[in-house]
Amino acid sequence: MNDNISHWWDHAIGYMICPVSYQDSNHDGYGDLEGILSRLPYLQELGINLIYLMPIFDSPFFDCGYDVSDYMKINPHFGTIYDLKALIAGCHERGIRLILDLPLNHTSNQHVWFQEALADPYSPKRDYYYIREGKVVGNEILPPNNWASFFGGSCWERVPNTNLYYLHVFGKTMPDLNWSNPALRQEIYRIANYYLDLGVDGFRLDAVSHLAKDLSFEDSSKPANPDGTVDDYDRFSNRPEMLDYLREFDEHVTKGRDVLTIGEVGDFMTPTQALSLVNYKDGPLRMVFNFDTAFDNDSVDSFDKADDEIKTDVLSLKRNFMRWYDGLYGKADLPLYWCNHDGPRLLSQYGSTKYRDESAKMLLTILLFLYGTPFLQYGEEIGMSNLHFDRIDDFYIDDSKRSEVASWRKAGISDDKILRYLNRTARLSSRSVMQWSKQAYAGFSSRPPYMPLNHNYTEGVDIASQMADPYSILNFYQYAILYRRQALVNDTVMNGPLSIIDPKHPDVFAYRHDGPMRLAVIANMRPYTTYFSFYSDIKDIKLHNYGDVLFQDHVFTLRPFEVFLLILQ
Ligand code: NOJ
Repeated sequence: MNDNISHWWDHAIGYMICPVSYQDSNHDGYGDLEGILSRLPYLQELGINLIYLMPIFDSPFFDCGYDVSDYMKINPHFGTIYDLKALIAGCHERGIRLILDLPLNHTSNQHVWFQEALADPYSPKRDYYYIREGKVVGNEILPPNNWASFFGGSCWERVPNTNLYYLHVFGKTMPDLNWSNPALRQEIYRIANYYLDLGVDGFRLDAVSHLAKDLSFEDSSKPANPDGTVDDYDRFSNRPEMLDYLREFDEHVTKGRDVLTIGEVGDFMTPTQALSLVNYKDGPLRMVFNFDTAFDNDSVDSFDKADDEIKTDVLSLKRNFMRWYDGLYGKADLPLYWCNHDGPRLLSQYGSTKYRDESAKMLLTILLFLYGTPFLQYGEEIGMSNLHFDRIDDFYIDDSKRSEVASWRKAGISDDKILRYLNRTARLSSRSVMQWSKQAYAGFSSRPPYMPLNHNYTEGVDIASQMADPYSILNFYQYAILYRRQALVNDTVMNGPLSIIDPKHPDVFAYRHDGPMRLAVIANMRPYTTYFSFYSDIKDIKLHNYGDVLFQDHVFTLRPFEVFLLILQ
């Protein structure tokens, strides 16, 4: 249950951290909680006041911690529960809130529940998962149905030496939890309450769209992939029971607590559907993270395209941001973000390494002044960009790529194309090691990090160099965030009606807020010059990423990735 009063997250600027890649404090090449604690003064200076941490629980780490083997234990690479307590206290001392990513749709196959479920058919844990007999066809035992998983191949994995299979909508080491079992749901509430009692300020709830499944487990009759599986994600996305489960979660965990819950819904939800989850009146969650603005170029499945054929779809981006704004404004809260840990780096997706400085500043400005609570991805503030690898195998640090690459090869896509595609789109890039300085290992660790570094940390894409340069991306971020957090500006952004200016302009993303202040953002999203007519009276230029202004007869000449934040009369 929520209401339409102001919450702390209406005044928050979020910052997403991949703990394994942020800062190593104990010299083992892996980032950890103490490392994050040591960087809080930096984060406070940057101006963010909400941290969202990717999963920190014990995990074999086949899926960067989304495969939890023990919810009650912190991953030893990251530290202990005492380190988490110290981090919570350190954040709160600095006025920073901390939310944890909680993956509850599945566990790791190394979780003791799953081990018990397999070992003993009469164990109550058996029904914590979906374990079913395979289909007998002639002499063969086949999976119970033809559903494909998100990570490629079948949704079912055979239990060795048996005719049994278990369901996994993500990787095969990540069996899905059976939320239709009330005893399982109670376990989940106990876990979530434990972390809230410890003082965390909320959760990102991973993969909530998939909590309920089509329990008939019938074959899909949709067209099959070359390996015979079928991408029929409706069988385990946004099913009606999901809302009942989340309502119960709210009842048992979040109701009455001033905490932020963000359900991750990926590509699977419209604003109308989302309203049932997040509306102020009786939505069980506070916000949802969708992926609608994260892949607004044609890079998804773009195996046949060269890099220079990939173009940001500016019209679609404007439509997508506005679709969510129109659907939710006044009815529900909305998070804002460009990219996250499931896609490539923002700069490589919508910006340009050639115009690193200009495009990073431009992308921040668009995001920061739209309606909602902004979330920045760590490293964005210095313009970190995609990693480049010469071998497909190098991408297997992210295990999900193994099954995806196998299904692409089965579909006949050549290795050259797969490699180019991975370099362009792989999510490993957005989890790369934070670049603190030009020193060895980018100041991340005193030892070689667990994954290769992006060499550009020696070329100015690092915190220390950018701190020393008043015109850097980092200093622009700091100034822009400070300004965005001013009470009147925040009020204007959160409450002043938002409208797009010239929605049909193919290159420029421009909008205005007419609230206590009148603000406008005008941004060229292209690596070339374009023109933009603007007839309102300009009082002041608050943010700008070029040294001079080209404006004549009500027309802006906008150079590559040029952006303005204007105060209007
Ligand atoms: C969504 C997460 O964002 C992604 O990183 C993860 O692989 C899947 N859920 C499975 O947990």
